[in-house]
This record gives sequence, C-alpha cells and structure tokens, in this order.
Amino acid sequence: MGFKVPDDVDYIAVNHASWDTLAELHYHDENDWYKIKGFLDGEDRRAPIDIELMGELTGKRVLHSQCHFGLDTLSAARFADSVVGLDFSENAIRNATELAQRAGLADKASFVCANVYDAGKVLEAASFDMIYASWGVTGWLQDLQGWASTLCGLLKPGGSFVYAEGHPFAWTLDEEDGDQVGHLRALSPYWQNQAIIEEWPESYTGIKIPNATRRAVEFPHTLEDFFTVFLRENMRLETFREFEGIPWKMFTRMVENPDDGQYYFPKGQPTLPMGFAMKWTKPA
Ligand SMILES: C[S@@+](CC[C@H](N)C(=O)[O-])C[C@H]1O[C@@H](n2cnc3c(N)ncnc32)[C@H](O)[C@@H]1O
Repeated sequence: MGFKVPDDVDYIAVNHASWDTLAELHYHDENDWYKIKGFLDGEDRRAPIDIELMGELTGKRVLHSQCHFGLDTLSAARFADSVVGLDFSENAIRNATELAQRAGLADKASFVCANVYDAGKVLEAASFDMIYASWGVTGWLQDLQGWASTLCGLLKPGGSFVYAEGHPFAWTLDEEDGDQVGHLRALSPYWQNQAIIEEWPESYTGIKIPNATRRAVEFPHTLEDFFTVFLRENMRLETFREFEGIPWKMFTRMVENPDDGQYYFPKGQPTLPMGFAMKWTKPA
C-alpha cells in the first residue's frame, strides 16, 4: 500500500480511457472470448469460485462493483432479488444496460456510472446484502483501503463481501513470449511502492486495439494488503482460498479445462497459486 504515481500522470483518467475502449471491444466480443451468446442462452458466466462463494442469492440485493459490461452482474441477477452494477466507464454502463434488456433482466438489474471511490455518494449506505467484485478490479486502484471502506459502507450488517482476484504472487512472474515449457521467471518484485505504467497493443482477450495501444496504471497490492483492508473495516473472514485455475490465460502455456472453463498449467509443470478468493461478513 502507499504507491507513488508520477506527478504528471492522472491515473484515474488513464485507466478510464483504457477501460472505456475495452468495454466497447469486449461487448462486441469478436472472438467469443466472453461467450456472450452462451450467456444469452442461459449459461452462468461467473467463475466457478464466484458462484460457490456467492452461494444462494434468492431474496438478496447484490452490488457488483467494477462490473464491466455486466456479464457477471447479469449472471448473478438470474438468481438474486435485484442486482446493481457499478463501473466508471460510460461505455461499460451503456453496454451493460443494453445487455440487461437483451437478456430480459432489465427488471432485476440496474447500472450506475461512477468512480468506485464515489459509490457511497450514488448508492444508499448499508443497503446491500452482498457486495461482489472479482477478476481484475483492484489492480487499477491506488487506494485499496478507500475501495474496501467505501464498499463495506454499502453493506447491511450481516451482509457478505465476495472477492476473487489474480494472485499477487502470479503477477510477479513472466515467461518468454510463446514459451510453452521453459521456466517462468520473476519479472517484478512482490513488494513495490511505485505504480507500474504499461502499454499493450491488444486486450487480454486477444483483440487488437484499433489505431492505438492500451495504456494503464497498475498497483500491485499484496495478499497482506487485502487482509489488512478488510480487517480494518472490522469485517469477519468466512473463507479464504488459493487455487490454480483462473478465468483467463495469464500465461501462454496455460490450457483451458473444459470441465470448469478455467485455465491451468499443463500437467507435469509445477502448480502455482494463480488466484485467490475471500468471503467476509459484516458483523450484525
Ligand atoms: C477486468 S474488468 C472487471 C471484469 C468483471 N470481473 C467482469 O468480467 O464482469 C475491470 C473493470 O473495472 C472498472 N474500473 C477500473 N477502475 C475503476 C474505478 N476507479 N471505478 C469504477 N470502475 C473501475 C473498469 O472500467 C472495468 O470495467
């Protein structure tokens, strides 16, 4: 925690531009990476660990934070009483709203465009039974405590917070491009206090960014940081898990397991913690 960002970089603006572009590309899902058609046909597109930790949603009002174009939000909406998705990308919110209509879920799901740090200004305090956030949502945030504090403030006493994410250890690793078998190498330190500024010619879904690259400012929070911010909010830990199978191909050598749709290292290669998930409860 306590990351420095160069003075001339407005990290929220840089990340907003990047996600606004991706929210449009991903919604058109040219290569069927997000499997939107499958979702419209009734598939639950949440990761298996998200489904497991969220559990029974009947009668619950859920907030999905940093909801992107709403695929996971709407998957949960099929089971919950109502779901609100929040994201700071206007393109994400417009596409999520349209997807809700296409899926026939507009009566149960609504979407709010706001910076997550401002969520307490646009949503009623202590009004949700569950907060849900997962897979690529906190690496863009300098102030992890501000994130946890804002979202926990929206939770009813007795409500739960489900969070799943790429494992901070996995973010330190790298492989040579296209190297399917060699050793992974340590790319960056686990503990850092400097934001990382990266540029890519394509999205993590493999789609090229038209006429541009994607620039993003990232904050490599540690596992200790995630525990610390929830403990400081007086939340009670219900479940903590580390696992190998994650929803995207973080390394080229990873292969999809058709049984759960998650990506794993091939058999025979060392197993590593690629993801983690936690469920916290707000004391009643
Ligand atoms: C990788 S996507 C989340 C994907 C999500 N798990 C899903 O598949 O439905 C990250 C999202 O976080 C949003 N985001 C990043 N920084 C944000 C901020 N400060 N406030 C609100 N949303 C933010 C981006 O706009 C993007 O839609």
